[in-house]
Amino acid sequence: MINVIVNGKGGVGKTVNANHVLPFLTSSSIVVEIDNNNFSSIYSNSQQIDGKTVTTKQNDLEKAIDDADFDGYKKNIIIDAGGGEDTKKVIKAIQAVGLKVVYWLPLMPDFETIGVLRSTRELIGNDKCNLILSNFRDLKEDFWFIFGSEEYGIEPNIGILEHFDNSYQVPNTNLFGIAKAYKTTIWDLALIHTGYNLEVIKKEWREQGREAYHKNMQMHRLSVACDRLLRQIEESKNQIEVCL
Ligand SMILES: Nc1ncnc2c1ncn2[C@@H]1O[C@H](COP(=O)(O)OP(=O)(O)OP(=O)(O)O)[C@@H](O)[C@H]1O
Ligand SMILES: [Mg+2]
Repeated sequence: MINVIVNGKGGVGKTVNANHVLPFLTSSSIVVEIDNNNFSSIYSNSQQIDGKTVTTKQNDLEKAIDDADFDGYKKNIIIDAGGGEDTKKVIKAIQAVGLKVVYWLPLMPDFETIGVLRSTRELIGNDKCNLILSNFRDLKEDFWFIFGSEEYGIEPNIGILEHFDNSYQVPNTNLFGIAKAYKTTIWDLALIHTGYNLEVIKKEWREQGREAYHKNMQMHRLSVACDRLLRQIEESKNQIEVCL
């Protein structure tokens, strides 16, 4: 299956969700970033994802879509479509070859971006499309333009959710940045502590001395926090209807 994260607006969380959240939610192992000027391999320590960057030059983009189609039979793939015009180019290149994909649209708590969300959703047409409410602290308060505000006389605009097949919630967190500092993803970090029995490994850590023990416990706590966040995101699937 090919998952494509899009939004005609830049800086809405496509790249962080493509690398840290979607690999876990969709069991994907390849992340293809469409970007003209950012050729980083910032997740080089990740065992879970294999990332590459391609430009939006017509040939590169078409080849990347064909590669995704070729690999997509065997593996789950994520395409991070880039911002603005890049997202439009990617959607059009996918539609030009009739490729079946699942789209993911992240939305930040910014009222100004709702128009672009609508136009991107329209461009997608009938393909499956999931919404990610991203980077909020208080869901209802921050997304007042969806949930309304009784306090300030704003009517809810819940109808917008009907245009999406599923919704997910990705709260504001420093864990994406922390994982990036380790050049890895939160899924990689989450898997660390599931690979050992804490009581057993603590014996080993004690033998390495106090300093090493502290370091190992720090990583353990980070791993548990990442695991908890991913499970919270997984469980947030379609919870909006429930919390209304
Ligand atoms: N849930 C979140 N918690 C904390 N920070 C977040 C969250 N979502 C997004 N951000 C931050 O917002 C900024 C923009 O996110 P990101 O780079 O993923 O956007 P983008 O849509 O890929 O941007 P571009 O269109 O420029 O490629 C980043 O600094 C990212 O770390
Ligand atoms: Mg990006």
